[in-house]
Amino acid sequence: MKIYLDNAATTKLDGQVRKAMLPFYKEKFANPSSIHFSGQKNNLILEDSREKIAKNLDTTSDRIVFTSGASEANNFIIRGVMEANQDKGKHLIISAIEHPSVYDLAKDLKKRGFDVDFLPINNKGIVEVDKFKKLLKKDTVLVSIMAANNEIGTKQPIEELIKLTKENGSYFHSDLVQAIAYEDISIDKLNLDFASISAHKFNGPTGVGIAIINPKIKINPLIIGGGQEGDYRSGTYNLAGIVGLSKALEISCSQRKENRKKVKEVRDYFLKQLKKEIPDIKINGCLKRRLPNNLNIRFEKIEGEAILIELSSKGIEVSTGSACSALNLKSSYVLMALGLKDEELNSNIRFTLSKDTSLADIDYTITNLKKIVKRLKSFSPIK
Ligand SMILES: Cc1ncc(COP(=O)(O)O)c(C=O)c1O
Repeated sequence: MKIYLDNAATTKLDGQVRKAMLPFYKEKFANPSSIHFSGQKNNLILEDSREKIAKNLDTTSDRIVFTSGASEANNFIIRGVMEANQDKGKHLIISAIEHPSVYDLAKDLKKRGFDVDFLPINNKGIVEVDKFKKLLKKDTVLVSIMAANNEIGTKQPIEELIKLTKENGSYFHSDLVQAIAYEDISIDKLNLDFASISAHKFNGPTGVGIAIINPKIKINPLIIGGGQEGDYRSGTYNLAGIVGLSKALEISCSQRKENRKKVKEVRDYFLKQLKKEIPDIKINGCLKRRLPNNLNIRFEKIEGEAILIELSSKGIEVSTGSACSALNLKSSYVLMALGLKDEELNSNIRFTLSKDTSLADIDYTITNLKKIVKRLKSFSPIK
């Protein structure tokens, strides 16, 4: 029995996506930058994928730059825009709960002499517009605020933030990685200057993503030498990955509405059963403004890591409150920003469902979780 409840970390590759990708690992292996027939044929497929992706994101294909994923897209956009627009200013605003590929980069930029502000969140996990207004300055170049958080799933009021940013004459970037599978997002209607997306979060392959740029705004290139992607990001194309991303996005967008409904029903059932069977749990972040597949739960007085390991031994795969990478065992800065006390920081589990999670999966999880929590509590030195 295997129940995978770690879909914010990565998702299962869709069968149709794999099928669409395979020819590019077999007979259609030519480099799309080559001038011969097979190369040019693949170049047409590359550009067709770009068009389809742009259409599904409701923008134009000249705004799509292919990358190896969203960490790369976030780095490219934020560093590239800040470095290229120093005549405009040196001020960057990010939220206090951005993914490490934004958060750590912002800290690095600060060390290098840029002026960085970290917009706090309230105890619901949402940034406050009034606080944001106060941070905007004349020399604010860029604001980077994610649409939805990877740990607690809370959704930020980006429409309002974009409007205020534009009125201030600054640029806006949003990390859309977690939101794209469930939220109806139109890049052009939102008036987003920059955005980042990663295929493996919506049943596409790993190692491919998109930086959405505005070709009218100055940005330094990420990789120099070769000239691919309008000179912004050189390197031989990952065509199989790009075709896979395009197919996965097409499927995800066409099923978004039904997936959102289905996943939310299962998630709400999960929460109801959790509250019934393990009464002293707490939900981290507000439930209302939250992605439908996320539950981040605090189990009073028990180590999250212990729960995770015991669940894993029963075939149930989850993550603790900290980042997508278990390599970093520091307490989660997202949960700290939410205002959790020191003793509460290590008692959290993130459950992230997928469109394939069933009620039976949840029942099995609850049955095991109840036993695990009871047992761990009986050992706990903290009473
Ligand atoms: C919100 C968010 N941004 C960025 C990333 C990085 O994406 P990638 O794995 O494509 O580098 C992730 C995933 O780990 C994420 O959840």
